[in-house]
Parts: sequence; structure tokens; C-alpha cells
Amino acid sequence: MTTALYQTVNDAHEGPLRLHGAAAFEGMRRAGNLAARVLDMLTPHVQPDVVTLDLDRMAWDFVQAQGAHSATVFYRGFSHSLCISVNQVVCHGIPSAKKLKDGDIVNIDVTVVVDGWHGDTSRMFLVGDVPLKARRLVDVTYECLMLGIEMARPGNTLGDVGHAIQSHAEKHRYSVVRDFCGHGLGLNFHEAPNVVHVGKPGRGVVLRPGMFFTIEPMINAGSYGVKMLDDGWTAVTRDRSLSAQFEHSIGITDTGNEIFTASPTGLTAPPY
Ligand code: MF3
Ligand code: CO
Ligand code: CO
Repeated sequence: MTTALYQTVNDAHEGPLRLHGAAAFEGMRRAGNLAARVLDMLTPHVQPDVVTLDLDRMAWDFVQAQGAHSATVFYRGFSHSLCISVNQVVCHGIPSAKKLKDGDIVNIDVTVVVDGWHGDTSRMFLVGDVPLKARRLVDVTYECLMLGIEMARPGNTLGDVGHAIQSHAEKHRYSVVRDFCGHGLGLNFHEAPNVVHVGKPGRGVVLRPGMFFTIEPMINAGSYGVKMLDDGWTAVTRDRSLSAQFEHSIGITDTGNEIFTASPTGLTAPPY
């Protein structure tokens, strides 16, 4: 592997697209629900002065107690249950001894494995008092995710999904990160298709019932360039502008889609 950009748009996850049946939907429902419950559980703990490694430990303990696995531990050399990406960090932030501080915006991304099925989801959290500008970025990023999900139905294409996300972000003068994308998942953590968060209507993979994938737009307040830190994981905005992200795992149904990772307690987006 030359780079941690394994979700890179052009070179990864080529291959036939799996169409899953009812038993697989049931498996994804359970995995997605557990992933969502990890974020629900963490929500009251995301406060000023909390150490991000402690959040990671809470997630590990919670997942273990459910008899499930953490997909990211030992994944390509990553060794934590969570990615915690603060402010200008675009994705794949590594939990550390650093404390969250008042005014931070934070993405927490968790992937669990239940009976082989993967549930992958992330949400933004506001730490203490967050300036309006940053809160707007978080709100628009959530809207981008949900507008993308609305387009995910049989007969539509991944281009339709990307276009919905890109046009909403750019309408607000934000930019959509190009270097990372969503991905198929199921019994694998990452597989075809690449779910690019920009696009043109009618282009790309045609969606069919039984397809499983994530949508996980990363939206920057500045321009879309990213830079990898020396740790080989942490991706930051090149211009150090703020970045936000939300992620759901979904399955295409006969009539639309099912969100596997919806919060069972309604913690969809801040304020919680
Ligand atoms: N959960 C991330 C995703 O949405 C992947 C994290 S891989 C890790 O695909 F190794 F960085 F944890
Ligand atoms: Co993902
Ligand atoms: Co994720």
C-alpha cells in the first residue's frame, strides 16, 4: 500500500457489485444499530477537557460488552475503535492524550462488526460553545448527507447522489473533499463501489435493490485539498480550514433505501 488513501476515487474497490438478500439486510440492521448506539453512548461525554483516548476506550468497552468487534482495530495498522477528527482534520484522526476544548467541532467515526456484518457511521459533535460559522458548516454537512441519501434509490445513479451533495455544499460556498469517498460494505469493511461525493446527474453506477454502501461526505469551509500528516493517517485540510463529515451505512430497497445506522434515540445531528 503506497498511501492511506485507500478510499481514493480512481484506483480502489473495482469489481462486481453484490446484491444482497433479506438475511443480509437483517445482519446489516444489527451491525448498523450497534454502531449508532456507540455514538449515542458517547454523546454526553463529548465535552471540553475530555481526552479523546478515553472516548476510544469507552467505545472499545461498549463494543466488547455487546460481544461484537471493532473493525478498525488492526485495520491496516490502525489500532483504535474510533477515528476522532477535530476542526481542520478531515478524517481518520487518531485518538490521543489530547483534550477536546471549548469551540471544537469533532467527527467521531465508528465501525463495528456483528456476525461478520459491518456497521459504519459517523456524526459531528459540538464541544461547548461553537461559533456560528462552524455550526453552519456542521448543519450543511448533515444536509448534504441526507440529500445524498434521498437520491439513493433504484434506477438512480451514484452520480445523482454525488450531484445532490456537491450542489448543496457549493451553494453554501463550501467544497467537497475529493480524496476520500464512501464505499460498498457488508461482510467486507470496504468494497465496490466507490461512492464519490461529487458528480453529474445520470452518471456512474446504476443503483439496484440489495446494494449496500456508505455515504460519508467530507465538506470543507475552504478549498477541498487535503494533506496527510506524518502519522500516515490523519488527513487535514491543506488550507487549515474547518472540515465536517457525517456518515451512514445504507441498503437500497425496492422503493428507496434503508438507513442501517440511524440513531435509535434520535441523536441525528447537533445540538443533541
Ligand atoms: N470508518 C472509516 C470509513 O468511513 C474508515 C476508518 S479506517 C481507520 O470508511 F483505519 F482509519 F480506522
Ligand atoms: Co465508511
Ligand atoms: Co466510517
